[in-house]
Amino acid sequence: MHYPVTDKQSALNVADVVANPQFLLTKPYTKSCERWFKENYPGYEAFLTSSCTRALEMAALSMDIQSGDEIIVSPFNYVGVANAFAMFGAKLVFVDIEPNTMNIHLEAARQAITPKTKAIIAMHYGSVACDLDGFRLLCDENEIFLVEDAAHCIGAKHQDKPIGLWGDFSAISFDAQKNISCGEGGVLLVKQKHHSVVEKVYENGTDKRAFDRGDIPFYSWQCIGSKFAISEYDAAVLLPLLQRVTEITHDRREAWNKLFAAVKNHDILSTFLPKHLKDLNHNGHIFWLCAESTEVAQYWVDWFKKYDVQASFHYPSLDNSPFFCGDGNTTKTNSIELSGRLFRLPLTSPTETIRELLAVSNA
Ligand SMILES: Cc1ncc(COP(=O)(O)O)c(C=O)c1O
Repeated sequence: MHYPVTDKQSALNVADVVANPQFLLTKPYTKSCERWFKENYPGYEAFLTSSCTRALEMAALSMDIQSGDEIIVSPFNYVGVANAFAMFGAKLVFVDIEPNTMNIHLEAARQAITPKTKAIIAMHYGSVACDLDGFRLLCDENEIFLVEDAAHCIGAKHQDKPIGLWGDFSAISFDAQKNISCGEGGVLLVKQKHHSVVEKVYENGTDKRAFDRGDIPFYSWQCIGSKFAISEYDAAVLLPLLQRVTEITHDRREAWNKLFAAVKNHDILSTFLPKHLKDLNHNGHIFWLCAESTEVAQYWVDWFKKYDVQASFHYPSLDNSPFFCGDGNTTKTNSIELSGRLFRLPLTSPTETIRELLAVSNA
């Protein structure tokens, strides 16, 4: 069982909104969260959304995807990422992953670029960064968008800068599984040069924001958009957690490091450890292991279950899904192969139990 981090100040903030219902219109907590992102992600505008999936849909709309435009994306991914682009008629071009990180492979992405390519989606699995300089350069050279799927990445850094600072658009999740959560929520970080398009998409395709600033006398429908905003109640919950991101990330890393030490001492599980551990700036979001076969991974998931520890698989590979390829896929990718062997151990609870269990099972 995963236990999301909460903060008493969130409850006080929600009570503040209840006592001041005009806040549902003026949205001071949403604005404070957006200011927090602007300060911590310089050069970017922030749009708080009701989920990271919605943030990615907003990116897709802002890129003006037309039927047949190609989006390069890793198949080892959350299905909402694929849907966010497919729903606007994009053709998904799946390129394989690097086995060490489970992240999209830079050279494979390079090979997949065609004149129809509109964007590359770089998802940072467990907040271990993709080759961001490489992807930024590749996208610039080919004049295509880089979208960072930074769903896992709040508090995580790459080269001492927050992950999210390389994309044209970067999306972060605050759903209940994430290091920081308001139940459901997300943010789309947008490079300033794309800001004027995105602010219309965010407001149902209107120039309402310009009107609210007093730039124009009335607002009107300008393009296709939708309603993406987070609820003010959720923003009230989120704000104190964002303000504690350094401490929460530190605690999460501590839990991750302790689990790592226990697994490293275990005769069998230590052989399943990934080799990405040189990256010291991840936020401890995911602790994953990769067994030598699906059967062995299942054995360990069942073994942990006997002790009430919920180990779990992750992301059935999208290039093997009934929707994408029916039931006739014969291609073998790293993503298909490894997603059947990867399993995660919980980090928020009960790491103590896991450590004791592993010590005993090793003895
Ligand atoms: C890699 C990745 N991207 C995007 C999402 C979507 O996030 P949300 O649940 O906030 O829509 C998730 C969800 O866990 C995810 O794992």
